[in-house]
Amino acid sequence: MRSRFPLLTRRALFAGTGGALGWAAFRGDSIARVVQAGREAEGKAPTDLANDESYWTQIARAFDTDRTLVNLNNGGCSPAPAHVLDAMIQDLRFSNEIPVYHMWNVLEPRIESCRRELASEFGCDPEEMAITRNASESLETLIFGIDLQRGDEVLLTNQNYPRMITSWEQRARRDGIVLKQISFPVPPRSSGDLVERFRAAITPRTKVIEVTHITNLTGQIFPVREIVRMAHDRGIEVFVDGAHAFAQFPFRRDDLECDYYATSLHKWLFAPIGTGFLYVRKGKQKKIWPLMAAPAKMDEDIRKYEEIGTHPAANHNAIAAAMAFHRGIGAERKAARLRWLRDRWAKRLEAASPRVKILTPLNDTDSCAIGFVHVDGLDTEKLQAYLWEKHRIMTTPIVHPEFNGLRITPSVYTTPDDIDVFCTRMEKILKDGLPA
Ligand SMILES: Cc1ncc(COP(=O)(O)O)c(C=O)c1O
Repeated sequence: MRSRFPLLTRRALFAGTGGALGWAAFRGDSIARVVQAGREAEGKAPTDLANDESYWTQIARAFDTDRTLVNLNNGGCSPAPAHVLDAMIQDLRFSNEIPVYHMWNVLEPRIESCRRELASEFGCDPEEMAITRNASESLETLIFGIDLQRGDEVLLTNQNYPRMITSWEQRARRDGIVLKQISFPVPPRSSGDLVERFRAAITPRTKVIEVTHITNLTGQIFPVREIVRMAHDRGIEVFVDGAHAFAQFPFRRDDLECDYYATSLHKWLFAPIGTGFLYVRKGKQKKIWPLMAAPAKMDEDIRKYEEIGTHPAANHNAIAAAMAFHRGIGAERKAARLRWLRDRWAKRLEAASPRVKILTPLNDTDSCAIGFVHVDGLDTEKLQAYLWEKHRIMTTPIVHPEFNGLRITPSVYTTPDDIDVFCTRMEKILKDGLPA
């Protein structure tokens, strides 16, 4: 039988050392491998490297994932490379020897190095960077932390993340603020149309806009800077939900001109599960209360958002290892590969049948790794269940009131063979239907 992993065969993975030892042997040196692969690829444009399997095989080897399945839901949350997991486990063990000393006195202060690295990557001052457990915590800090009066309006789309909508709705019930949710077609008519929809919904009572940098549904990238500029001209605050954006495709704070940004790091930075950040511009920190109380002297200290009680230091310290891996690849190369993988499945399925609708614009500005496919006449949830239960292909079923289909998110360890296995199966389903 033809191997699904011609360049990354199981034999190659375990060659020389045998079994688990083989994995352990290249865990420790995965960063060195990434750096070496990068050196060999030096001078190659990211788009030329995007289908260079000798390079991406090296990257894939850093992940200790189950190669008997095809994981096309790396957006929900991602496996971490083995060395990142090892760094966390090592710190957990060390912490467990005497937590009150090792965790609080030795490991926790290292959060400052992670803050510095994240700030440098995002393009802000470390004093504007809080480390949180996920985008939800970061966004809820903003949602519940800003003072609003009864009748004040908050503007979002009906494709913002459900937990964030729920948070705003709770605030509406409690404080009498008013939520306005705008709708937009997928794919949108243009990025200008997205800005215009926000602009048209603004009233004199609008105080906050929450915009998703890249949606978790179709993977639409929003024109954040244009929305921020338009809102700032009217004295409106903009909270940016970048849960999926940071480390998926390259951008910096100044490209967005935003004052607030929230992300998870267990999606595209490949940091351990339970890591995120909240950026709040220096001059704005006083006006955003922390979710858990902090003393008044911390009013303008970004660390007030980290006053969360006892928590493991191991998870957030491993952000440093994940950042080294991300930089070893390079943001431009990573995005180019992710787009190449997106096009490989999306264009093939689009060509396979007129029943297939790709609802994600396939270009370099409107989307990256996340793509969305709707198939006329197929039940989305049954399709997802069939792919997973019968063929071990993991996808994300999305059923929104205005559209439905599968969200497909490959990652840097996804092989072209993985994509082809998915496409071949989909083509068969298009031809024969789903088994009853
Ligand atoms: C757009 C968006 N915002 C917020 C979140 C919440 O992220 P987390 O569950 O990591 O807190 C997600 C999660 O998928 C998301 O897609």
